[in-house]
Amino acid sequence: MPDKTGEWTRLVEEIMMCRKCPLHETRTRPVPGEGSLDAEIMFVGEAPGRREDETGRPFVGAAGRLLSELLGSIGLRREDVFITNIVKCRPPGNRDPREEEIAACSPYLIRQIRLIKPRIIVALGRHSGRFLFTQAGLRWAPLSAIHGKTYTVTIAGVTARLVATYHPAAALYNPRLRGVLEEDFKKIQSLLRDRGGERGQRSLFDYM
Ligand code: URA
Ligand code: SF4
Repeated sequence: MPDKTGEWTRLVEEIMMCRKCPLHETRTRPVPGEGSLDAEIMFVGEAPGRREDETGRPFVGAAGRLLSELLGSIGLRREDVFITNIVKCRPPGNRDPREEEIAACSPYLIRQIRLIKPRIIVALGRHSGRFLFTQAGLRWAPLSAIHGKTYTVTIAGVTARLVATYHPAAALYNPRLRGVLEEDFKKIQSLLRDRGGERGQRSLFDYM
């Protein structure tokens, strides 16, 4: 296993000093992401919220509690996985990240994918879903149509299974989505157990 910590340290240092988009003006702390650099599975959220901006850690507020519960429901601890966001600094008032902010920040996510080489990438919510699908050359569709489905993709030279699901924050406002998220996490659990699938093959739609 190559030593990943050198590149990880460099990446964190760059993110901590980054001024590539206007979000650096209003952030308290950037939130690079955290977890195991050897994680098999990577979760990609949207952007830091207030608690994340205060602490510098991803998914530590109410949505983060739900994410931790969902992980626990499939036998994972936060330290087993890698958790990050498509945009590393908090948008003021938690507004949606803008296209140009995603464009400025996403090279960091690409480097994280290249470094960690996850076998499974989970997009939490439509912003990271749209970005990751587009990177993979897939057509993005509404989450209601594609959540929980698995696509074999190559992103940044890394072949992985890509699954999009709802953002945990959405389930805090719409309790019906909580059950949907729980079901999608069960599918992710079966992907984790399934070690038979070849990494190299590409199919648009190989698991439902
Ligand atoms: N929502 C996100 O998308 N990311 C976080 O880190 C916290 C809340
Ligand atoms: Fe840099 Fe990303 Fe923060 Fe913008 S959001 S300043 S690109 S780290």
